[in-house]
Amino acid sequence: MSTASSTPGTHSTAMRTHLCGDLRLDNAGQRVTVCGWVAHRRQHGQSLMFVDLRDHSGLLQCVVDGSVDARSEYVLRITGTVSVRPEGTANPGLATGDVELTDCSVEVLSTATPPPFPLDERADSVEEGTRLAYRYLDLRRERMQRNLRTRSAVLGALRSAFADSGFVEVETPLLMPSTPEGAREFVVPSRQFPGSFYALPQSPQLFKQLLMVGGMDRYFQLARCLRDEDLRADRQYEFTQLDLEMSFVDVDDVLGVVSSAVLAAAGAAVAGSGRAMPPIERLTWHDAMNRFGVDKPDLRFGMELVELTAIFGNSGFKAFAGAPAIKGIRVPGGSATHNRKALDTLTDRAKKLGAKGLVWMRVAAAGALESPVAKFLSAEELAAIVTATQAQEGDLLLLVADEWETACEVLGQLRNDLGRPPAGEGELRFVWVVDFPLFVGVDATTGRPKPGHHPFTRPHPSDVEKMESDPLAVRSLAYDLVLNGWELGSGSIRIHESELQQRIFGLLGISPDEARQRFGFFLTPFGYGAPPHGGFAFGIDRLVAILAGEDNIREVIAFPKTQSGLDPMTGAPTTVDERQLRELGIRVVVPATVPQAAPSPRPAAAS
Ligand code: AMO
Ligand code: AMP
Repeated sequence: MSTASSTPGTHSTAMRTHLCGDLRLDNAGQRVTVCGWVAHRRQHGQSLMFVDLRDHSGLLQCVVDGSVDARSEYVLRITGTVSVRPEGTANPGLATGDVELTDCSVEVLSTATPPPFPLDERADSVEEGTRLAYRYLDLRRERMQRNLRTRSAVLGALRSAFADSGFVEVETPLLMPSTPEGAREFVVPSRQFPGSFYALPQSPQLFKQLLMVGGMDRYFQLARCLRDEDLRADRQYEFTQLDLEMSFVDVDDVLGVVSSAVLAAAGAAVAGSGRAMPPIERLTWHDAMNRFGVDKPDLRFGMELVELTAIFGNSGFKAFAGAPAIKGIRVPGGSATHNRKALDTLTDRAKKLGAKGLVWMRVAAAGALESPVAKFLSAEELAAIVTATQAQEGDLLLLVADEWETACEVLGQLRNDLGRPPAGEGELRFVWVVDFPLFVGVDATTGRPKPGHHPFTRPHPSDVEKMESDPLAVRSLAYDLVLNGWELGSGSIRIHESELQQRIFGLLGISPDEARQRFGFFLTPFGYGAPPHGGFAFGIDRLVAILAGEDNIREVIAFPKTQSGLDPMTGAPTTVDERQLRELGIRVVVPATVPQAAPSPRPAAAS
């Protein structure tokens, strides 16, 4: 995506006629005025200086008088003539490299302290805390400019796609009661009602469902969501969802609308980059687990899980005999790249992931399998493994015997460890994962099933009858959108009938009284005529990171928190003064933990 203006003239103001990065041979001879920061300067004797002036669109070389005071990151306004660079001095690495500004007059708009790190690609290796402490300088860099502009373009494309499909943009409250959505909430003390708290929204889930009761029909919002979770590459406390809800729909309706919007936005963002974007595939949760061992499969590479259970029906190898499921993966060429130590590491990893062990086999000439357990297996079993896995000489095979889900999950993780490219590279492989289980496992203390998504998710109509007898076998009308192995978004068709909702609450061990008390504000409205409805929300930060080729969502957020939840630029979180606490009726009973002092306002010079 180009960071320069697409319409010439858009950026002309009272102070400038052009952007630095927009000037080309076509402009030769024109008298122009540009504004920007001094990226580099090269002094040529007393009389001449080359200044590379930078604005968000790129760099422009300006030939100015040697006496001009133009130091690193000074802000200048330069009027000059666009001239063809002398023979042999063109710079093919620069978009403006055929031209330069000559005959310049220079006005210094601002002076600058030298920045604490160079504002180019060298800053990529600067410690992140330092980059974030001086984020306003980091943002001047081409990478950050490109990322934030990609983000803006994606938001714009999504907004118009949804508006064009009849969605109404509605804002929902940031101050709301605590809700049962799974993550830990941020709470906000109430001054008017000391001792009472608002919760910040984990998502607009409840309000968007009430908008359906309110007859809005199709709602969307670019919603800020807040969750007090441990931060990771794909998680921040604050993030943005494209959140939507639709009335009178089935799963295909929701998937259809989201697919076309997301493909339009992604297509616009990667246009011209050569990144392929095949049509969105669809997998059931069961197939995703069975073939890729995860509910967010990365389809950019093979190494699919192979079903081997039947081969070992009467095995003499005790680890495999009678195992509920035996699965394997083939690591192409993995024999040579895995010595004994590497294989031991893989085995330890598999055990940490919950496997009882890991069988490895090296594929030698003529399909012979070399493995410490080969001696326990019959010739037929060995031959059947080679056939089932399509093993070739030089490959490495990894096998796990366990409960189906454990075998899948362990191998799915090893598959990712061994084969997965960085999320931002290669093709864009979107995939819908549908028919998630309604419940995931059983709560150890209560013995009750735990909801897979949230308790308002609709059970699959074919499985409703099994809800009481076999809850863990019940599928739901919940779906996820996955991109290159990242969960981009989730949604479901919801329950709109109170009786069905009561049945689910009953299974979860929530009594009618407790339900009324905890979710009354949400349940009462459903007694007043709720339309069947469903929706979806996807993480803008994750989508943009992948489209921008970044592995961490912090790179596509203007002012993110560090991994430990701090903002080194503002110093947040901070203490508040006594008066404020008194007003809120709050007493701090642990000594305040002040995380890290904000940097001094006058940064040290770059070395
Ligand atoms: P869910 O909780 O799956 O669904 O969230 C939807 C999407 O939001 C993004 N996301 C995050 N991004 C960055 N940092 C985080 N901490 C974070 N947490 C979530 C992910 C995720 O897929 N209300 C439901 C949606 C619905 O049912 O309509 C919900 O919020 O990309
Ligand atoms: P054992 O019989 O426990 O000595 O294990 C023999 C080999 O089989 C070891 O390499 C184990 O790591 C492996 N192994 C044991 N149990 C399993 C299992 N459930 N799945 C895969 N490999 C296993």
